[in-house]
Amino acid sequence: MSAYPKTSQLMARGAAFLGSEYAILCGAMSWVSERHLVSAISNAGGFGVIACGAMTPELLDGEIAGTRALTGKPFGVNLITMHPQLFELIAVCEKHGVSHVVLAGGIPPKGSVEAIKAFGAKVIVFAPTLALAKKLLRSGADALVIEGMEAGGHIGPVATSVLAQEFLPELADEYLVFVAGGIGRGESMAGYLEMGAAGVQLGTRFACASESIAHPAFKQAFFRANARDAVASVQVDARLPVIPVRALRNKGTEEFTAKQREVAQLLDDGAVEMGEAQLRIEHYWAGALRRAVIDGDVENGSLMAGQSVGMVRQEEPVAEIIAALMTQCEAALTRR
Ligand SMILES: Cc1cc2nc3c(=O)[nH]c(=O)nc-3n(C[C@H](O)[C@H](O)[C@H](O)COP(=O)(O)O)c2cc1C
Repeated sequence: MSAYPKTSQLMARGAAFLGSEYAILCGAMSWVSERHLVSAISNAGGFGVIACGAMTPELLDGEIAGTRALTGKPFGVNLITMHPQLFELIAVCEKHGVSHVVLAGGIPPKGSVEAIKAFGAKVIVFAPTLALAKKLLRSGADALVIEGMEAGGHIGPVATSVLAQEFLPELADEYLVFVAGGIGRGESMAGYLEMGAAGVQLGTRFACASESIAHPAFKQAFFRANARDAVASVQVDARLPVIPVRALRNKGTEEFTAKQREVAQLLDDGAVEMGEAQLRIEHYWAGALRRAVIDGDVENGSLMAGQSVGMVRQEEPVAEIIAALMTQCEAALTRR
């Protein structure tokens, strides 16, 4: 008998799909979601996901092997669709018999979903619109994550509460839909589960767990921050597209705005071509997350964080975070 009978009942489909005890995914976080955090999540009954990010196939190979050495439980691998070696990375997942691959960062390129399914793994996708979600699910994706703009990292324009109302009534009976973005406590998990979600995905709440290798200065910045400090980056010039990133406000976020103005001015002056200008904007953040997470440069690095950062107050072991979420969810469902 589960210690959380009502929650476990609502999570049953999602947990069976993931092969975990609880249908709680720790969303992949570049630099943060490596073997230690991923194995801790899976060992505690959740579902950890390795963030491949910009890793080479060789690095991913080592990370999967390293994670396997730390847990016998299932975990996933998150691949960014625009990675130039996407198909080599898929081959690495095949080599290790990875059970779940998450495709993030855009529409999966032709053949990628098929290549993953060919070795028996489950494919989890993101979709910003209902129409695209239906298309991906009908063409072979096994599950969907909807992620609202409250989340940390790269975000879309719509709030989780609205996405949940748009997607869940249409899809939840037939498909597995996991809800992400802004979840900090179990009560909100209860709400999404009751609406038909198969489970939930959290990132910010787990980023500073005891098992997370994030630099102590990165963690301190999270503990001090309030919801309003996790702001979305703003595009300054229509010619220079910026995919919004939610991160804690710091010197780096201010300089990013200045950088966009500077590059826009160069465009006005005819000093750079459009392609070069857009590249300069894109490259500005390359490495910034690493600077904050690994080096602890919380001034100039990128402190990607969701609005739920206000609910992250101290370092806690993953197992305690999961137990708290499950207890809060169960209490909410019991009060109904
Ligand atoms: C520091 C950080 C890094 C992230 N990096 C990635 C990433 O590399 N790939 C990805 O698909 N999502 C990434 N995300 C999003 C998370 O996987 C997750 O969906 C999100 O954090 C959920 O919302 P929450 O932050 O409100 O819990 C990142 C989030 C954070 C906070």
